[in-house]
Amino acid sequence: MIDIEEYGIHEGISEIILTTISPDGVPNAAPIGLHRKSGRLFARIYNSKTLDNILSKPIAAANIVDDPVLFVQSALSNIEPERFKFIDGFPLLKDALGWIVFDCICKKGGNLSVVGLSPVKGKIIERKLQPINRGFNAVIEAAIHATRYVVLKDQKYLDCIEYYNSIVKKCGGEREKDAMMLLYELIGNPK
Ligand SMILES: Cc1cc2nc3c(=O)[nH]c(=O)nc-3n(C[C@H](O)[C@H](O)[C@H](O)COP(=O)(O)O)c2cc1C
Repeated sequence: MIDIEEYGIHEGISEIILTTISPDGVPNAAPIGLHRKSGRLFARIYNSKTLDNILSKPIAAANIVDDPVLFVQSALSNIEPERFKFIDGFPLLKDALGWIVFDCICKKGGNLSVVGLSPVKGKIIERKLQPINRGFNAVIEAAIHATRYVVLKDQKYLDCIEYYNSIVKKCGGEREKDAMMLLYELIGNPK
């Protein structure tokens, strides 16, 4: 039995990187919000590779990650195959601080599906003291706007990205600045 609290998954939405596997065995990773509400765990997932994979094999793993570059890369492109490790045939991220594997039950919608998550097993690899860094949080916000920008190409998302980039410049470390450089590169550098 997994105590989800032990993994730092509290009420609200925790941003994790969800790994899944395609029918032909290709691993995939994408940032997804893990919702915990009134004792229920679920994700709201738009049509994507992640959703296709869950529909064909209803297993997913929440990788708890603190690397801003990994969030940007998995949101806007693919993670290199060598960054996955396989446990019992299922892909996880080598750099995860911990992971939880879930059985999924998908309520398919038109654009958006709700995926119920039941924890099956998990592992805590590293516990770290993690003071709040506004630069890290700003990268996460910028990455969300970037995933909308690449689909909708609306200037308002670029303006938001610029705003969060100003916080990264002020408060972030090297890794956060690298993440923003990668983000701009992956959205075609429209500065
Ligand atoms: C921090 C963060 C949280 C996200 N949360 C969600 C989410 O809860 N549901 C969703 O459908 N997409 C979410 N996204 C967007 C997906 O990660 C993005 O669309 C990704 O490209 C999907 O990849 P895939 O096609 O490989 O599955 C989030 C992105 C970021 C950066």
